[in-house]
Amino acid sequence: MNLATRYLGLDLRNPLVASAGPMTQTADRIERLAEAGVGAVVLPSLFEEQIRAEADRDERLAEVGIDSFGEATSYLVDPDASVWPRQYLDLIERATRPGIPVIASLNGSTSGGWTDYARAMQDAGASAIELNIYYLPGDPLIPGQDAEQRYVDILSAVKSVVSVPVAVKLTPYFSSFGDMALRLEKAGADGLVLFNRFMQTDIDPDTFTISTGFKLSSPTEATLPRSWIARLRGQLRSSLAASTGVETADDVAAYLLAGADAVMTTSALLRHGPGHVTVLLDGLTAWLDRKGIGSVNEIRGLLAPAADTPQPGLGRYGYLAAVEQATRSFSPR
Ligand SMILES: Cc1cc2nc3c(=O)[nH]c(=O)nc-3n(C[C@H](O)[C@H](O)[C@H](O)COP(=O)(O)O)c2cc1C
Repeated sequence: MNLATRYLGLDLRNPLVASAGPMTQTADRIERLAEAGVGAVVLPSLFEEQIRAEADRDERLAEVGIDSFGEATSYLVDPDASVWPRQYLDLIERATRPGIPVIASLNGSTSGGWTDYARAMQDAGASAIELNIYYLPGDPLIPGQDAEQRYVDILSAVKSVVSVPVAVKLTPYFSSFGDMALRLEKAGADGLVLFNRFMQTDIDPDTFTISTGFKLSSPTEATLPRSWIARLRGQLRSSLAASTGVETADDVAAYLLAGADAVMTTSALLRHGPGHVTVLLDGLTAWLDRKGIGSVNEIRGLLAPAADTPQPGLGRYGYLAAVEQATRSFSPR
């Protein structure tokens, strides 16, 4: 069975990628993922705020004077603020192993010098950069166009300092997501990762408190990214990676049929451990066997509508049919 795929111009032994999260945070965990057969790994994000903190700290140290470094660090509010950016580069070096590309993740929301860190990631050995643009335009006066331009500007800044491929991980919340995807490709995106996971903000009416947190996903959340991957497959030349709701081998297969080049998972690995990579790959191989198909390449995008073909089942016609069907199924007797 040939599971090999190409993602961002990189050769992967299979399409299963461990996405950014705690499972890729240490070289040991990455080793276990590699042993389980993973195709590539995306390291957890290095955040714009962490890079800025490092730059601020270096600047303050320079002001105090390099000769009194030890003493100078004791004046700083947070002497450890710069540890993670430097450790990150070290993690890239230690995570690198033959045949398993390591993708570094840079996460921010404004234009600025922090994007230059992509170059340091490349120099440390990253095979590609995943640029997570996590921008929450909370100001009701920001026009949509300005919010969208910000994505293009940040991507352009990163592209200008690296030669390795750059994927953009983003949210579906644009007035026209397809147009945004095409604009990012035009601005140089080598791939798109659909989608970013939003922090879940909630209100507890009992305690009158607002909570923020990150919950693990469920497979039902895969329908939106899967639909967009299918929609965009015929329109984009750049790679498409699926991220959200992969729990079983069927979820992997469905994303491939929609047209994903790579299928990523975080929640399932946190729930079941790195060995779940083998379960998913064995399941995918068994499914391909059952269907009499010899390679992943033969099924990629099989169910993606061609760019120039009207798909009545997917538009409003399909919507009306689905409402009628659901009304029949769920009507009280
Ligand atoms: C605990 C946790 C930490 C995460 N950290 C990051 C991160 O640092 N950078 C990032 O781009 N995505 C991060 N993610 C999002 C995942 O990479 C992934 O996109 C998301 O969880 C959806 O995939 P899943 O349904 O397989 O979990 C994190 C997710 C979880 C659950």
